[in-house]
Amino acid sequence: EDWRLEPSCDSPDYKRLASAAAALRESNIPVAFPTETVYGLGADATRSDAVRGIYKAKQRPSDNPLIVHFASLAQLRSLLRPASDSAELHSNTADDGISPIYAPLIERFWPGPLTILLPLPKQSPLAPEVSAGLHTFGARIPRNALALALIQLADRPIAAPSANASTKPSPTAAEHVKDDLDGRIEIIIDGGPCDVGVESTVVDGLSSPPAILRPGGISLEQLRECPGWENCVIGYKDRAEGDGEDHGIGEGPRAPGMKYRHYSPKAPVILHEFGASMPTVEQLGGSLSEEKRSIGIIRAGTWPSGLGYVNLGDDLEDIARGLFSALRELDRKDVDVIFVEGIDESRGDVAAAIMNRLRKAAEVKVSD
Ligand code: TXA
Ligand code: MG
Repeated sequence: EDWRLEPSCDSPDYKRLASAAAALRESNIPVAFPTETVYGLGADATRSDAVRGIYKAKQRPSDNPLIVHFASLAQLRSLLRPASDSAELHSNTADDGISPIYAPLIERFWPGPLTILLPLPKQSPLAPEVSAGLHTFGARIPRNALALALIQLADRPIAAPSANASTKPSPTAAEHVKDDLDGRIEIIIDGGPCDVGVESTVVDGLSSPPAILRPGGISLEQLRECPGWENCVIGYKDRAEGDGEDHGIGEGPRAPGMKYRHYSPKAPVILHEFGASMPTVEQLGGSLSEEKRSIGIIRAGTWPSGLGYVNLGDDLEDIARGLFSALRELDRKDVDVIFVEGIDESRGDVAAAIMNRLRKAAEVKVSD
């Protein structure tokens, strides 16, 4: 459980990480770092000034809470139960502030792309800006080795949203972070392209039945295999407009971030839901003839290969990994409109996570 970096190491990489860790402890300018899902924009979660630096750099609305990243369970536990109140009496009980409902998830998915909601501890050491007024906070232990090393060296819980400018697609490579935040931050740790490409799955085990608040790197099928999670419900809503289906939750989104326009490149995105017909020649040609508009197309399986710029192929993991990058690539090509071929959600939860992000990015959803 406790991952350790050799402290005697004096390679350039280690020095770079150590100075990023020092910046996290001392500066109020956030540090961008890779995780297995997307790049994060990190700050010391215990210092308000540092956390405000994140909202400022991203221009993110301040009612949208941040996920707190830890390097180990021991580090999370010490935040939940500061040394002062860990009387011997308690030291061997299960009551470490982490509800037992999470035990099978932690065992199976951490470190990894899963975020769990926990109640804020009494006299919370976390800066109030982290939870944006809620009584809970999101916690996650990422599995990217650079992320773990950085958090461990900083020796602080690290609040980090995705390292994009607010409303832009999440960054899955260091260049994406630079494109959005150059001049606003000083350190970007480059760990190459991200493995997973969509953000962590956010779950709420504090409600009954437990709920999945954001689909992501861990699937609903995987969650439902865990004891206590067999009947977990879907607490987000983003189906194609007008499908009228109730996904278990009537009121607004329970993960506040899910209500914002998101993941959007400059050009409007027209999402063709799975099964809807392709853009017609008139749509494509029509927009071309008007003002010589250039068109970006992201296809994912069935649209003919003659079409457009980015082909993500048919493999779900490849699509997840390449999606945000494809939106950004089309932005760089300065296209005027982006048509996207939707995929079939019955293929599972990775497909659902992909469609969730695409629907937020889309200005128009075509379902015939
Ligand atoms: O994969 C990820 O989770 C990435 C990497 C950097 O770890 N982080 C990320 O953070 O996606 P962000 O801030 O872009 O998304 C956090 C999501 C938002 O939808 C937010 O509303 C939700 O988690 N969230 C955070 N704290 C919450 C809380 N206490 N209650 C409900 N939802 C919460
Ligand atoms: Mg984000």
